[in-house]
Amino acid sequence: MEGIYLFNLHLLFVIISIVILVAWLLFVILKNFTELTNSKPANFTHSNAIEIIWTSIPAFILLSLASPSFSLLYSLDEISNPELTLKILGHQWYWSYEMSDFNSCSNTHNLKYSSYMLTNELLKEKSSIGFFRNLETNKRVVLPTNTHIRLLITAVDVLHSWTIPSFGVKVDACPGRLNQANLFIKRFGVFFGQCSEICGVNHGFMPIVVLAVPSIQYHYLIMTNLTFN
Ligand code: CUA
Repeated sequence: MEGIYLFNLHLLFVIISIVILVAWLLFVILKNFTELTNSKPANFTHSNAIEIIWTSIPAFILLSLASPSFSLLYSLDEISNPELTLKILGHQWYWSYEMSDFNSCSNTHNLKYSSYMLTNELLKEKSSIGFFRNLETNKRVVLPTNTHIRLLITAVDVLHSWTIPSFGVKVDACPGRLNQANLFIKRFGVFFGQCSEICGVNHGFMPIVVLAVPSIQYHYLIMTNLTFN
């Protein structure tokens, strides 16, 4: 996400520079080349030099956009020996999660749970003041910070999309296909997202909440409560 943000700033700088240049050119032309100020126009129709300039400069600008764009794109694909794997399943209309890394570390518990949106009624019942309407879920996905995490994303019924803007992650959940993404969370906190692929009437009501905790705290959570109730 930091890379995406910096790339966005780079694009903004280029776009604003071009807008200023073109606006200035337009202003100069309108000011200096009207019939009033320039009644005897030049009548040449071709200039090799100027054509080379106005073809090559935009080409170099495009190159300066393409090169960081491609390196960013391929760096997103990189899977760097993840320590943890989270499997994400999209359902109509909730998400379920599986973690198989801890199957052998204690009892019969497999880390497997479903995550539903908290309805307005539930928000009132639990007197959960400060909870976000249509964004909170009954169970949050708990993940450690400073850990390489692999996300495996698929769907059970129709297309969904697992999205957390703050992580720069948006991966489609397709039935019959396992998509992969990698994640490295730098700081702890609660991160929100929503399904981002039209998947039916309750598409807007299958939010995603990730609670990122320091890895030592995560370790403790794993040891004490495998289900994260
Ligand atoms: Cu699931 Cu939209």
